[in-house]
Amino acid sequence: MSIEIDILNGDASWKRAEPLLQAVWSPDAAEKPVWADIKWAHADLRVLLDAPDDSGLACHVGIYFRTITWNGHKVHVGGIGGVSTRADCRRRGYASLALDAAVHTIRANDAVKFAILFCEPHNFAFYQARGWHPFSGEVYCEQPSGQIRFEAMAPFVNDIVRAPRQGKIDLCGLPW
Ligand SMILES: CC(C)(COP(=O)(O)OP(=O)(O)OC[C@H]1O[C@@H](n2cnc3c(N)ncnc32)[C@H](O)[C@@H]1OP(=O)(O)O)[C@@H](O)C(=O)NCCC(=O)NCCS
Repeated sequence: MSIEIDILNGDASWKRAEPLLQAVWSPDAAEKPVWADIKWAHADLRVLLDAPDDSGLACHVGIYFRTITWNGHKVHVGGIGGVSTRADCRRRGYASLALDAAVHTIRANDAVKFAILFCEPHNFAFYQARGWHPFSGEVYCEQPSGQIRFEAMAPFVNDIVRAPRQGKIDLCGLPW
């Protein structure tokens, strides 16, 4: 038994990822989360981790590449989003493995200066324990209604050759 990790084109692998993402992010919670109405970008690549017991996809991490602006200067970044592990497969290290694979993939792109993800407070410790740092500045992004300040989730940064902690980030497109 071994854990299989694939890194695939985001659109081509959507069908494989969709059931897991819908199960993990199903909008059937009694209270709508603050991000429920946000329109999200599609992943450029996906890390897909299959459970070793042949029960199918156990974990997903989306990878994004984007030229954004940080304090008005263009900078190419990597993004991480849609981090999800099937409920019956949690606390086995799958998200940590998939996240590592995603960060390696982002770092392999020489143009990328840092990576960004967005998360809710209950996951802050998870990401901080894995080398991500809070970004305390302002983040803006596009939505169908136009540009908005993005406050639905908190930004975290993984340093590569830049280590932004504050200032203004414009995602120059939909958030992830
Ligand atoms: C957050 C989430 C992705 C974590 O997935 P996961 O596969 O359970 O993550 P891991 O197993 O790598 O790590 C989870 C914890 O289990 C621990 N763990 C890992 N392997 C373990 C093992 N073999 N035995 C016991 N604990 C283990 C890790 O140390 C970690 O604990 P920590 O947060 O205190 O460091 C998952 O809970 C999830 O899908 N949640 C819902 C969606 C969500 O919130 N996604 C994040 C969006 S930003």
